[in-house]
Amino acid sequence: MGQNSRIALIAGDGIGPEVMRVGVRLLEHLRDKKGLPIELWSLPFGAEYWLEYGVGLPDAVFAEIRDTTRAVLLGALGDPRIPGHEHAREILFGLRFGLDLYANVRPVRALVDRHVPLSGRAASAIDICVFRENTEGLYAGIGGQLRRGTAAEVAIEEDVNTRLGVERIVRAAFDYARREKRRLCMSDKSNALRHAHDLWQRVFHAVRSEYPDVPSEHLYIDALCYELVRDPARFSVIVCCNLFGDIISDLVAALGGGLGLAPSASLHLGGTQPGVFEPVHGSAPNLAGQGLANPIAMLRTVGLLAEFLGAPEQRAAIELAAGQALEAGECTPDVGGSLDTDAAGDAVLRRLR
Ligand code: NAD
Ligand code: IPM
Ligand code: MN
Repeated sequence: MGQNSRIALIAGDGIGPEVMRVGVRLLEHLRDKKGLPIELWSLPFGAEYWLEYGVGLPDAVFAEIRDTTRAVLLGALGDPRIPGHEHAREILFGLRFGLDLYANVRPVRALVDRHVPLSGRAASAIDICVFRENTEGLYAGIGGQLRRGTAAEVAIEEDVNTRLGVERIVRAAFDYARREKRRLCMSDKSNALRHAHDLWQRVFHAVRSEYPDVPSEHLYIDALCYELVRDPARFSVIVCCNLFGDIISDLVAALGGGLGLAPSASLHLGGTQPGVFEPVHGSAPNLAGQGLANPIAMLRTVGLLAEFLGAPEQRAAIELAAGQALEAGECTPDVGGSLDTDAAGDAVLRRLR
């Protein structure tokens, strides 16, 4: 990397700033000790900003992110004082849709046997990467309400699926599975959703024929939930629509030890857009302000960011250090430890030094 990589930081709400603090320490380590040419740019957006100025992400800042950064690192968004989630949608969807980040990649690899909630399963049984379509489906925001607030009201949310949108995420998942020599499962609800998910079926079969070397299968989403709990080792790469991917990624996170450990990246693979990196978890208002947030999801998210910046060996080192800290029980209560957020972050960072 010749030029500096400018990284925008949006800590957000709830536990967002608490885990962001730890993430920034890791970014500083990568910059100062590992020579990654990182330039940090802190932004104030989140619930407080919305409450004061009535805006989530100003257009000019969006344009500056698009034009001058390599990535955005996000904490979490969501605040009980904004029950309509307007600011969270404006920021999250503003970035995901505005930058056309069609691939939401959510890898879950269990690090410690005792974190797997299914009896008799070892950590090695849980190594699943969800490829969630991230720009359309039921998240497209097309719809409306009629006769709102009356007994006769109507609410419509359209499920938008395009050939281009489905094909590029299915292809991204197959490319990844081929590169990593992994199996793939496409999941939809084409037995019920006969227009939208019939398109997923047809695209899946067309793309799959180009990847005869990648073992692949299809499961309806209900069956996938069932099989994930019964036999998680069967699954490796999962590709699905936006809403199913959101749901499945929390289920898979639980199999791997919980949301406190699960990272995510929103990418436009093959493009030059900045990527958006964020833990899978939200702002966890039930934990906020108490030092109870597990920082490892954020640290692993920085690992994905390091890989995106061309330093996969740094991601591997972070994974190793996180595994060692967890194995030693030097972690937060959600994964069986008694450390607070900063000390649990230290336990990983110390092992990297
Ligand atoms: P959540 O992910 O915040 O919390 C779900 C459960 O996981 C809670 O029990 C929480 O305590 C636990 N948890 C989450 N992160 C943890 C961590 N780092 N360490 C330990 N435990 C952790 O989901 P929610 O409660 O449904 O949502 C809270 C708010 O966050 C809502 O406003 C929601 O819309 C928002 N949210 C935002 C994002 C995001 O910014 N990307 C993602 C999910 C939810
Ligand atoms: C996630 C979150 C968001 C989503 C919410 C906060 C809108 O759950 O990133 O998984 O549904 O995409
Ligand atoms: Mn989610």
